[in-house]
Amino acid sequence: MQEHQSLEDFLSSPRCADAPEALKALIRDTVNACIEIASLTRNGSLAGNLAASWGINVQDETQKALDVISNDILINAMEKHGHARALASEEMDDTHIVANPKAAESPYFLAFDPLDGSSNIDINGLVGTIFSVLPAPDGAKGTSGEMLIAGREQAAAGYVLYGPSTVLILTLGNGVVEFTLDAAKSVFRMTKHSVDLPVGTSEFSINASNRRYWEAPMQRYIDDCLAGKEGPRKRDFNMRWVGAMVGDVHRVVSRGGVFLYPIDEKTRAKGGRLRLLYEANPMSMIVEQAGGRATDGHGRILDIAPSSLHQRVPVVIGSREEIDIIVSYHEQG
Ligand code: AHG
Ligand code: MN
Ligand code: MN
Repeated sequence: MQEHQSLEDFLSSPRCADAPEALKALIRDTVNACIEIASLTRNGSLAGNLAASWGINVQDETQKALDVISNDILINAMEKHGHARALASEEMDDTHIVANPKAAESPYFLAFDPLDGSSNIDINGLVGTIFSVLPAPDGAKGTSGEMLIAGREQAAAGYVLYGPSTVLILTLGNGVVEFTLDAAKSVFRMTKHSVDLPVGTSEFSINASNRRYWEAPMQRYIDDCLAGKEGPRKRDFNMRWVGAMVGDVHRVVSRGGVFLYPIDEKTRAKGGRLRLLYEANPMSMIVEQAGGRATDGHGRILDIAPSSLHQRVPVVIGSREEIDIIVSYHEQG
């Protein structure tokens, strides 16, 4: 295998010179926890029934065994070294204030979706972990109110995709880097020093079974794409849907496209389908840092002032020119 720069060497390189040591330490711990999750997903059913139902989380969704185990792995990693002051997770009603005495000195909160795409576990489909590093205000303990920080303040964001290969996508706010896990050595090695989204695309990703629940602008946009060469867009479009945001966004950051989970009548009362703090915000930072655009169909996701820990938002993100077009459909009403 060709020698690629390790994550460790990357974090010590001039490109990360402005990143505080405390941030690098938190990223190391998070990534090491994900390597542990990766070894579980790789062993699949040999690691036990990872898709077994475990309970119901705060969002009234069934927790699978792997959701809970992944959450525990991340909590244990943070408790061990105390590099995050407090944690927010899809799988925990409230924040977890890290007990390790060192944690009180950490300038960061960590928000995460420990296992995104849990309905893919039992079909051996793509799953991943999404994380967001937020600056902890001076004196803040890590209550849920203190963690309601807009996405534009994120110090770093990333995800680990447990696919045919395990891939880490990371941004510290100066571009996006891709690493691939050398599983034999448990080391992430750089495989793209700059992830750049094509500005245009002819590929969209949406759960089309919800069409009848969408608002009129989204119905019009997708109908126009489906009309292809004969329609107003005058070209054919392709459609892909993994069913795990982490997999769908990874395709978008790899070859362009748009990933859409718009507001619809099914999710309107909750504000949308995907969660702001640990799904939409980190993915929006990555997409923007890769040259794309991340909106809720109208405005920038990263500018949304969060109102609750598990707040949901519509997500319309991806290649810049195509997102501009979708926003213009919404402006027309
Ligand atoms: P999670 O498994 O963390 O609850 O997230 C699942 C999310 C997201 O990954 C995906 O895009 C979306 O749910 C799919 O939802 P539907 O199957 O309801 O469309
Ligand atoms: Mn998720
Ligand atoms: Mn999840």
